[in-house]
Formats: sequence, structure tokens, C-alpha cells
Amino acid sequence: MSDELAGRIAVVTGGARGLGLSMARAIAGQGAAIALFDVLDDVTASAASLGGDLGVDSEGFLVDVTSDTDVVSGFRRVRERLGTPSILINAAGITVWSDTIDTDLATWQRVIDVNLTGTFLTCREFGRACRDAKQHGDIVNVSSMSGRVVNVPQHQASYHASKAGVDMLTKALAVEWADVDIRVNAIAPGYVLSDMTRQFTESEPVLAERWRSMIPLGRMAEPADLDALVVFLCSPGSAYLTGQSIVIDGAYTAI
Ligand SMILES: NC(=O)c1ccc[n+]([C@@H]2O[C@H](COP(=O)([O-])OP(=O)(O)OC[C@H]3O[C@@H](n4cnc5c(N)ncnc54)[C@H](O)[C@@H]3O)[C@@H](O)[C@H]2O)c1
Repeated sequence: MSDELAGRIAVVTGGARGLGLSMARAIAGQGAAIALFDVLDDVTASAASLGGDLGVDSEGFLVDVTSDTDVVSGFRRVRERLGTPSILINAAGITVWSDTIDTDLATWQRVIDVNLTGTFLTCREFGRACRDAKQHGDIVNVSSMSGRVVNVPQHQASYHASKAGVDMLTKALAVEWADVDIRVNAIAPGYVLSDMTRQFTESEPVLAERWRSMIPLGRMAEPADLDALVVFLCSPGSAYLTGQSIVIDGAYTAI
């Protein structure tokens, strides 16, 4: 445990499990207080165990990032319970494997709503909170290498489009908010072991081997492989870094 982020308050969406929870643990390990947002009831237990393990204030909030009213009230409750957040990590996300020709509008819309519109809503509310408190802010959006390369063999057009949107939203907000001292970056992971990828590899075991064979480092990432990068992006050491989406993929996209 170090204290690089001591005194900071972080909102982490998609924080009940997976990459969101792992990144929340990483920044809590640097002393930040944590507010987890998720639609899963597990969010309460995840926040309690994180706070217990790392000795920081930590609370879970049932917030659907696609709901304007949920997001607004979620940020209000964070301010009341913990204080004004100065870190936002947007990890809430979903994906579907669906041939585009068979994809109905509701399925397409749901992926865009969670991954892209949800990111817009939480960034906007965070921006308002920082503006009102006249304080510095650091945003880390969880994009994906799928925002710039097409996954194979699975068909995930809605996911690709949503993550490309997250990358562009990241750049747009970095420029728009540069003069109010809010930095906006993204991390773009390759394949990471989580419930999101397990939903495919458990039903198609050959898939994990196929993906692994395409990764020069020879393995899928563990969520903890992202820890140092997310801490860096929230820390003063990255003060001149904004508007970037940093790929962390074991060199998948290098070939
Ligand atoms: N696992 C990978 O290989 C991988 C690679 C690149 C990017 N990502 C991205 O990382 C992020 C986390 O994914 P993960 O692999 O941990 O998946 P996950 O399914 O384990 O976690 C996603 C979390 O988001 C939550 N969530 C979903 N919809 C929500 C909503 N409307 N409001 C609030 N929370 C919601 C889920 O309940 C879950 O807790 C996602 O944005 C995903 O696109 C994952």
C-alpha cells in the first residue's frame, strides 16, 4: 500500500467485478476512497471487501450508467457520503456476439447505450462536479483494442463501434476540458480474463486457444496487468498526458 492517491475520491463504474473491481483495488491501494457503480447487487459486497482489505472508505451504489437519473443521483450520493470525486474510471461495459445481419435494433442499441452513452453520462456528471468544486479531475475510460481492430472469429460490430466511439469521446473531452483541468484518457486492453470473455470461451473452448495463438506475449491478460497503467493515468506523473487511448494487449495489435 502506497499513498500516491491519498485524499482522492474515485468513482468506478462496472465496479462490482472484473476489470472495474480490479482497477478500483489498484487505486485504493494508493490510498483513494472508492465509490463503485454497478447494476449488480454484488456491488455492495465488493465495496465492503475492498474497503476492509485496503483500509479506505469504500461504498457500492446501484447505478445503471444508461440512466440519466441514476447517474445524476449516484454522483449526488457519492458527494454526500464520500465527498467530491476527482477520479472517474468508466469500466461498465457489455458485449454481444452477433452476426450483424441477424442483429435487432434493441441489441445494437443496448451495447451503444452501456458502452458509449453510459460513458458520456458519467463523464458529464463528473465534469459538472469538478467544475462546481473548482477542482482537478482525472478520467480513465476503458475502451478496447476492439475500438481499432476487428476481433476474429467472433462478430461484434456493435462492440467495435461503441469502443471506437469511446476513443473519440475521450479525445473530444480532453480538448474541451483542458482549460478546466480535467484530463481524459482511455486504456484499450486486448483480451483479458474476466466474465466478459469467459461467456465465450466456456461455450467455445477452442476460442481461448485461437486468441492466445494471436497474442505475441502468449497469454491473455489478467485484470491486474492493467493496475500500474490505471494508477499512472490518475497520478501527477502523467500530468501532461491527456486525450490518449493507450493499448495494452500483449502486442496483439502490433502484428
Ligand atoms: N475482458 C476483456 O477482454 C476486455 C477487453 C477490453 C476491454 N474490456 C472492457 O473492460 C470493461 C470491463 O469488462 P470486464 O471484462 O470486466 O467485464 P465484466 O462483465 O466482468 O464486468 C462489466 C461490469 O459492468 C457492469 N455493467 C454492465 N452494464 C452496466 C450498466 N448499465 N450500468 C452499470 N454497470 C454495468 C456489469 O454488471 C459488470 O459488473 C468493459 O468496458 C469491457 O468492454 C474488456
